[in-house]
Amino acid sequence: MKELEELKKKGLEEMAKRVVRISDINNHNNNSIILRGWVYRQRRTGNKSFVVLRDGTGIVQCVVDKEKVSEKEWKDSNDLFIDSVVTLKGIVKEDQRAPGGYEVQVEEFSLDFKGEPFPIGKDQSTEFLLDVRHLWVRSQRIVDALKIKAALINECRDFLNERGFLEIQSPMLTSSAAESGATVFEVKYFDRKAYLAQTGQLYSEAMISGYPLVYVFGPSFRAEPSRTPRHLTEFWQLEPEMAFYNQNMNMKLQEELVEYFTHNIAKKYPDILKKFGREPKDLLEIKAPFERVTYAKAIKILQDKGLNIKWGDGIGMDEEKLLVQENTQPIFLTNLPKEMRAFYMKINPEDPRTVLDADVLAPEGIGEIIGGSERVSDYNELIQRIKEQGLKKEDYEWYLDLRKYGSVPHSGFGLGSERVVRWILKLESIRDAIPFPRTINRLTP
Ligand code: 4AD
Ligand code: MG
Repeated sequence: MKELEELKKKGLEEMAKRVVRISDINNHNNNSIILRGWVYRQRRTGNKSFVVLRDGTGIVQCVVDKEKVSEKEWKDSNDLFIDSVVTLKGIVKEDQRAPGGYEVQVEEFSLDFKGEPFPIGKDQSTEFLLDVRHLWVRSQRIVDALKIKAALINECRDFLNERGFLEIQSPMLTSSAAESGATVFEVKYFDRKAYLAQTGQLYSEAMISGYPLVYVFGPSFRAEPSRTPRHLTEFWQLEPEMAFYNQNMNMKLQEELVEYFTHNIAKKYPDILKKFGREPKDLLEIKAPFERVTYAKAIKILQDKGLNIKWGDGIGMDEEKLLVQENTQPIFLTNLPKEMRAFYMKINPEDPRTVLDADVLAPEGIGEIIGGSERVSDYNELIQRIKEQGLKKEDYEWYLDLRKYGSVPHSGFGLGSERVVRWILKLESIRDAIPFPRTINRLTP
């Protein structure tokens, strides 16, 4: 009996011992190997069928010669759709002309699953591709973007763990809004209302009196009604919180973190970065400390650029873009007016109209990737801030408790992982930084 048929009968475990990953094919030159994967492309010229196979680790061209296989194998190798499933046995041959530098001369060919014509072809609209996202996630581009996302998350965890941080979990179901009430998702919670978490921060603040350096990495939900290239309704946020840190120490930690992951990703993934048009060198040049630009100074800069803007006006996406359009380094935008900022941010003693906050704005016109601040640690100041913002004291009883027992100066920040991937990979839209994006118009797939 032929080897493929025999292995298929024995089952997946026996097969797995023989199957070679396409990324390892260079170690098997002139050997007979077994490959298993999905059809990427197929064409026929004369007595040869060229089946380009992908297995998630790479693609390789496999040549089926009519003279060397059975009639059924020949027929099957020509009767394929994109993403039909194939197992084949063949000899690896180094070939400079082949994409990837190797070709496989097929000895045995098995069509395991033919399926239906694949609905995604060339030049399809963004909306259609989002409709079939469950199939489009197989594309190399999305897989590559997700590799960078995974790398970013690993680098952030390594950085924090090396510095003695403890990873903790915060609840996704909460009883009140922590950021702006305008963007909170309401859900039914038995006979009460609950809200999907916008941040884990308030819970990290509770944990730092148990362990001084903690972080949460988890999903955040925002009912963002805006359709922009940088807003999702569900995104993944890294939120470190540190006891006995002032805002300056907080910013130093952030710039060290950004330098750390940009450098390591540039060193480990130069090929993927280049596919997205990102020169690894750009990332290797990211260097702390980042320039600190106060809100007041930013308003002046924007006025000099001809904008009709004055102290007290908001700095939105367009204004941020102008601030960092020509930059190659991130900047900190600091000390915003307190009316614009969350109730938990500490008042700036040097200018009480403002708070001790900072956003990291990524260069090349990208804008905010991190938001952070020193927190209010005094009970009365926190009551005052809650009142000023028109919030209800009753909604924050447990949070206020933290200022009654063992309250210490502390600071923290939140990094939007999809925002960072968008910057690093020069993605037009943040949607490609997450496999199944959620936006105002999109809840499926
Ligand atoms: O600036 P934000 O709203 O800050 C917080 O949530 C704080 N509690 C963080 C903290 O201090 N622990 O959000 C933090 C970051 C932003 O800088 C941005 O990168 C990202 O989260 N972000 C979003 N990413 C995608 N879609 C959205 N709708 C986002 N909103 C915020
Ligand atoms: Mg923010």
